[in-house]
Amino acid sequence: MSILIKNIKQLVSVYENPPQKLCGKEMASVPILNNAFLFIQDQQISRFGSMDELESWTDFEQIPDIQIIDANGKMVFPSWCDSHTHLVFDGSREDEFVDKIKGLDYEEIARRGGGIISSVRKLRQASEESLLCQALMRADEIIRGGTAAVEIKSGYGLSTESELKMLRVIQALRVQSPLSIRSTFLGAHAVPPEFKENRAEYVRLITEEMIPEIAAQGLADFCDVFCDRGFFTVDETDLILKAGLKHGLIPKIHANELDFSGGIQVGVKNNALSVDHLECVGLDEIFVLLQSNTMPTLLPGTAFFLRLPYAPARKMIDAGLPVALASDYNPGSSPSGVMSFVLSLACIQMRMTPEEAINAATINGAYAMGLSHSHGTITVGKQANIFITKPIPSLAYIPYAYGRNLVETCILNGKVYA
Ligand code: NIG
Ligand code: FE
Repeated sequence: MSILIKNIKQLVSVYENPPQKLCGKEMASVPILNNAFLFIQDQQISRFGSMDELESWTDFEQIPDIQIIDANGKMVFPSWCDSHTHLVFDGSREDEFVDKIKGLDYEEIARRGGGIISSVRKLRQASEESLLCQALMRADEIIRGGTAAVEIKSGYGLSTESELKMLRVIQALRVQSPLSIRSTFLGAHAVPPEFKENRAEYVRLITEEMIPEIAAQGLADFCDVFCDRGFFTVDETDLILKAGLKHGLIPKIHANELDFSGGIQVGVKNNALSVDHLECVGLDEIFVLLQSNTMPTLLPGTAFFLRLPYAPARKMIDAGLPVALASDYNPGSSPSGVMSFVLSLACIQMRMTPEEAINAATINGAYAMGLSHSHGTITVGKQANIFITKPIPSLAYIPYAYGRNLVETCILNGKVYA
C-alpha cells in the first residue's frame, strides 16, 4: 500500500539526517519544504521533494494500489509525540474539579483521600476489558488530534496485581491501536492507604516484587517515580530508579512540580531519559540539566488545570537546554490529551515561539520516549506517522487558533486513520 500526498503547501520538519534532539537556539527553526510531495510506502516515509521534482517522476501513477491525496493549501506535519500520559484510568474526577473551583488545592485533596488514590480505588475494581475500552476511546481522540506516538504510565494500581493489570491493558492497547506506545511503570505514584504507616515496606514491594515481575513479563520500558513534596523523597526515588535500572527499566520521572524537590538532580544522576513537570526550576536545576542527556519535559496543561506557575521554558531554552512538551493526559491534573492546546499554552503562557513548540512536541518528544530513530521528523526511512492539516495560512496558525482541531487527515504507520 502506497500513498502519495501532492501539492503540500508546506512540508514541516524535513531532514535528511535529523539530530536526535534540538537544544537552545536550535529549537527556533523548523526546516520546511514549500509546494512539496510526500511518498509513503511499506509503512515508511519513502521519498519527498518539491512538486517540480514530482513532475520528473513520471511513472509514479503506475505504482499498484497507490492512493493519491491532493493537499492543496494544506500543510503536513510529523505527528505529535506525546511523551508523558496516564491515559489508562477508570472514569473521571470532575467532582474534585468542582472542589478545586471552590478553593481546595491539589495537595489538600490528596490528603483527604481524593486525588490519585481515588483513581486507584476505581481502577482496582475495574475489569481489564472496561479499562481497555475506555483507553481505546481516548486513543481514538488523541489520534484525531494528530498524536501518533505516546508514552503511557501505570500508577493507579499501586499493588502488584493491579499494576500488572494496568500494564497489561497498555500492552493490549499496543496491539489494538495504531499508536506507537511506550510503557512506563509508575508504582511510585503515591503511597497506597494500606502502607500509609509503613512507606518503607511499600518501597520494598516496588523494588523487590513489582519491578522484577514487571521486567520479567516485559511489560514496561521505563520506570517513573513521583519525586515531590508529599509523595516520594529523593532517597526513595534513588532506590527505586536503581532497582528499575538493574532490571533494564530506564528512568523517566515526575519532578519539581510542587517544590524544588531534588527530583531533577536524582533523575540526572541516574541518567533519566527525561525529567517531567519542572514547574519549580532555578539556576541549580538548569545547570544540572545542561551537564546531562536528560530531556526536560514540560506539561503546561497541568499548570493550566491546577493553576500552578508555569515552568520557566524561556529561561531554560535561552540557557541552551532542549525542551519537550507533553499532555500529561490523566483524570486528576490534566484531563485532556489535546496536543495543539498544549502548544498554545506553551506559546501564550511560557513564551515559546510556535517553531519551538512544534519542535518540542515532535523531535524532542520522540527523544523523550527513546524513539528518535523512527519518529518526530519527516525523514526517509522513518515510520510514516504524519498529519495533514485543514487549509491554514502558516505554521504559527496551529498554536494561534487555540482549542481548534486543525488536523484533517492522520496517517499512522503508513495507513490513513478513518
Ligand atoms: O502527572 N503528578 C503526578 N501525577 C499526575 C497526576 C495524576 C492524578 O492526579 O491522577 C500528574 O500530574
Ligand atoms: Fe504525570
